[in-house]
Amino acid sequence: MSNAMIEARDLSKSYGPVHALKDVSFEVSRGEVLGFLGPNGAGKTTTMKILTCFIAPSGGTAKINGADVFDDPMGVRRSIGYLPESTPLYTEMLVLEYLQFVAKMRGYTGTDARKRIKKAVEQTSLEDVIAKEIRALSKGYRQRVGLAQALVHEPPVLILDEPMSGLDPNQAAEIRELIKEIGRERTVILSTHDLGEVQVTCDRVLIISKGTLVADDTPEELRERSGKASYRLVVAEDAQGDEARVRDLLGKVKGVDRVRARATEAKGELIFAVTPSGSSDIRRDLFQAAVDGKFALLGLEKKAEGLDAIFRDLTTGDAGVPSKPTKTKAAASAEDKKAEARAKKAARDAAKAEADEDEEKDS
Ligand SMILES: Nc1ncnc2c1ncn2[C@@H]1O[C@H](COP(=O)(O)OP(=O)(O)OP(=O)(O)O)[C@@H](O)[C@H]1O
Ligand SMILES: [Mg+2]
Repeated sequence: MSNAMIEARDLSKSYGPVHALKDVSFEVSRGEVLGFLGPNGAGKTTTMKILTCFIAPSGGTAKINGADVFDDPMGVRRSIGYLPESTPLYTEMLVLEYLQFVAKMRGYTGTDARKRIKKAVEQTSLEDVIAKEIRALSKGYRQRVGLAQALVHEPPVLILDEPMSGLDPNQAAEIRELIKEIGRERTVILSTHDLGEVQVTCDRVLIISKGTLVADDTPEELRERSGKASYRLVVAEDAQGDEARVRDLLGKVKGVDRVRARATEAKGELIFAVTPSGSSDIRRDLFQAAVDGKFALLGLEKKAEGLDAIFRDLTTGDAGVPSKPTKTKAAASAEDKKAEARAKKAARDAAKAEADEDEEKDS
């Protein structure tokens, strides 16, 4: 039997002309915390909504704990706890009332429900606000209530859409610990924009960009990538400092993977970007190459590639990619007109409601 608790196969999703997801496949094992990383509009929420049966994929399939999202959506829902992106809470309820309601919806009553609620409240440190109305809570505390709601039925799989958003650093650290603890025996997928965050919380990281997976790494592999330096050399342009000759000489230095000449505005200067093959410092060898090759080195700088740079490298130019138009122009413009009419009606209704309210106040 496969150890995979989540199996996504060739998932794709189109919203009209926008291809939000394109053939995304991955597996997550029991006891694994997977970070789902990507810029705005990359397709993280879309993937999570498919895995939790909130929307159907346009293509492909997914299984959670063996249950297929098409054939057994109830089985999927039983196996997952879901913290959606914008936590939907009944804000007029007290925190305790809300958790009692959630427990009841999940089929728990009496002592069993009380025990489960107590545990979820302890896990998310909600003890102090249990008798407060949800609308009186700060964003971070609402986020915790959302998390408690996802934990009440002790699901084997947790799907958390940006669980750290809105939390202060202390709260984020607590929630991070909680996620790690939960992840020891269960399976967790969490989405975030923060590479640093996934490095400390997750066992594995998927990076998604424009609906396509662009990386599947362990945090160590990411760290290794981020630890890799690059070198910037400034060389005097003269008979010895001929661009092609210097590039060749630098390319022969031990430990050099690639040499690229960079454009420069400064007269009489050549600039080269050198990418090393390993992680050891090659500045001495580069200097020695200049001495042996008799070209004048005006500058030599080692630059560490930061996590942000890696993230940008993998995901630049991100935004949902429109596919070929799937509708005829006439159908599309009819829909546009309908949407416009709806927007106008909504504006009229809002204005009317405001006027009614003013009238009530006046009378
Ligand atoms: N209901 C919808 N109708 C039309 N397009 C949608 C809908 N939901 C999402 N999209 C589009 O699908 C793409 C992926 O969106 P998604 O919400 O999955 O991104 P995300 O990675 O969660 O982004 P964020 O980091 O901003 O939460 C975007 O281009 C978005 O505009
Ligand atoms: Mg999202």
